[in-house]
Amino acid sequence: KKDIYVLGIETSCDETAAAVVKNGREIMSNIVSSQMESHKRFGGVVPEVASRHHVEQITLVIEQAMNDADITFAELDAIAVTQGPGLVGALLIGVNAAKALAFAHQLPLISVHHIAGHIYANRLVTEMKFPLLALVVSGGHTELVYMKEHGVFEVVGETRDDAAGEAYDKVARALSLPYPGGPHIDRLAHEGEATIDLPRAWLEEGSYDFSFSGLKSAVINALHNAKQRGETIEAKDMAASFQASVIDVLVTKTVKAAQRYDVRQVLLAGGVAANRGLRAELERKMAMLEGVELVIPPLSLCTDNAAMIAAAGTILFEQGKYATMALNANPGLTL
Ligand code: KG4
Ligand code: ZN
Repeated sequence: KKDIYVLGIETSCDETAAAVVKNGREIMSNIVSSQMESHKRFGGVVPEVASRHHVEQITLVIEQAMNDADITFAELDAIAVTQGPGLVGALLIGVNAAKALAFAHQLPLISVHHIAGHIYANRLVTEMKFPLLALVVSGGHTELVYMKEHGVFEVVGETRDDAAGEAYDKVARALSLPYPGGPHIDRLAHEGEATIDLPRAWLEEGSYDFSFSGLKSAVINALHNAKQRGETIEAKDMAASFQASVIDVLVTKTVKAAQRYDVRQVLLAGGVAANRGLRAELERKMAMLEGVELVIPPLSLCTDNAAMIAAAGTILFEQGKYATMALNANPGLTL
């Protein structure tokens, strides 16, 4: 059987990324141009700034991905691109670049859902074994996704308000930590103690949904009340308490869903998968589940990248699911 080479393109948020992946499993190149520094001073991603960066970077990033992989367009089998969800202006840059290249080089165009990409980052690490459950936790998403086979996704739980990463970033802001706050809270949490009593949103019995806005408000209220009483809460203790609450809910619901759906694998995906506390607790709890394998990709594959888009796109290519030249960015695309 002939090898399959797919170029992936990702521009849904604040990373301009391109990558070449062989057979959906092997990374030939993986280029990510981050705009983090430009957004830092605004305390979050500014859509107009993101779009402009993507325009400036996209051609260079694709060129470098092709060069690093030492491949020509004639040797490619398809071009895969993130269609959504994400920022519409940002998505458009990637979609238009992919369409132009697919048209110019007469290659199949593949449209990929960003979350499918995050999940397929795991296939760059190990073979996926079905049925499986993926916990996707990022700045924009908190989802438990059940998969019976390749390319088929069933969302069995999701956040009803803030995403986990969003909660981390908002709490970090309340603690006057820089953006993005996740890594700072993670670091502080290991220095402090979870001494502050914070809520855990378990929701209805049997629900695998999440809610983090109440927790975020509880943190802000506790800080405010302490200030009014002239007391101080140490940032490290608040970080530890907040992190304990988030991890408790994420891990408990993931383990319960893994049992309920009787899966063979649990995959971790998204930027929050970088969290040391989450990784450790999930490893500890999953070790008690017999016969279920836990897969956690390396950090560089957990955050936004294009190798994961190429990996997910390869499956669609093999299934003959091509997009047309009418493909448009869809910021609200569902899985
Ligand atoms: O997947 P990602 O790179 O971008 C999105 O698609 O959203 O995720 C970024 C999110 C941010 O909210 C960031 O604060 C969070 O991931 N994050 C972390 C950690 N590293 C990044 N959250 C908690 N602990 C970390 N170590
Ligand atoms: Zn993402």
